[in-house]
Amino acid sequence: MTEPTAEPTAEDRKAGIAGVFDRAAATYDQIGVDFFAVIGERLVATAGPQPGERVLDLGSGRGASALPAARAVGPAGAVLATDLAPGMVASLRSRGGELPWLTAEVRDAEDPPDGPWDLVLGSLVLFFLPGLDDAVRRYRDVLSGSGRLAFSWFGDADKSWTEVYDAIDADLPADQRAPRGTPRQGPFAGPEAMAGFLEANGLGDHRTETHRITIEFTDSDQYWRWMWSQGMRYVLEMLESRDLLAAAQARVDPILEQRLQRDGVIRWWTDVHYTVARP
Ligand SMILES: C[S@@+](CC[C@H](N)C(=O)[O-])C[C@H]1O[C@@H](n2cnc3c(N)ncnc32)[C@H](O)[C@@H]1O
Repeated sequence: MTEPTAEPTAEDRKAGIAGVFDRAAATYDQIGVDFFAVIGERLVATAGPQPGERVLDLGSGRGASALPAARAVGPAGAVLATDLAPGMVASLRSRGGELPWLTAEVRDAEDPPDGPWDLVLGSLVLFFLPGLDDAVRRYRDVLSGSGRLAFSWFGDADKSWTEVYDAIDADLPADQRAPRGTPRQGPFAGPEAMAGFLEANGLGDHRTETHRITIEFTDSDQYWRWMWSQGMRYVLEMLESRDLLAAAQARVDPILEQRLQRDGVIRWWTDVHYTVARP
């Protein structure tokens, strides 16, 4: 008789996600396409940190939003950047040398340090949190009187890419395949669902704007480097551990080649939502 496999706990899931990003940190947002840094900068521009403000940045990665926030608040302000992946924190520390009022530490985004914070920022991270409801109430509680929570999250993405995703994980059992962009779950299903979620958690004053971002890969090699460099790396690691990666690449490369021949680049887009919320 085989023992039933225990469901992963929230802590297991967080450690699994942090592990993937830790192994991705050496190439994260450094493969020659503009993505996370562009989104982080737009998020900061939308949230508008002022000189002297205190900012808490959650799931900072290499600093896509923490670095522009630190430039905006200046030496009279302070930014605490946090991430569960030590490799990301080390990388951010080395990039933030010119900005001594930016500090970085390994910390769970579900456990924000006491405030008051004028701005709690999270670029492309809140959807990873298993305990999002409690975490958002904690963010609300550590905000200063004029404080706001600002975060970015994914919207619709290029549906023509379903054929690529299907080719990548065709050999995996259905329950282990990567989620297909849309429809997304819970508050991340769309701006209306997010509005209801924020209102239910004491952040009644909110606005969301949406902007499309497009990546143009120059060839399939750059596409694979992109996959290894970010969260989708977990699918490649799963395929590799089962000796299924080469077969997946053999299915995907002809599709990428067709796209390259047709468009001159391998083009992919996603919408990104930018939400700013206050109590
Ligand atoms: C998609 S990346 C975004 C990083 C950065 N904000 C950016 O925009 O480039 C998600 C980041 O969240 C971090 N992360 C995931 N779950 C976390 C948690 N529970 N606490 C802290 N960081 C977390 C990952 O390690 C990763 O660096």
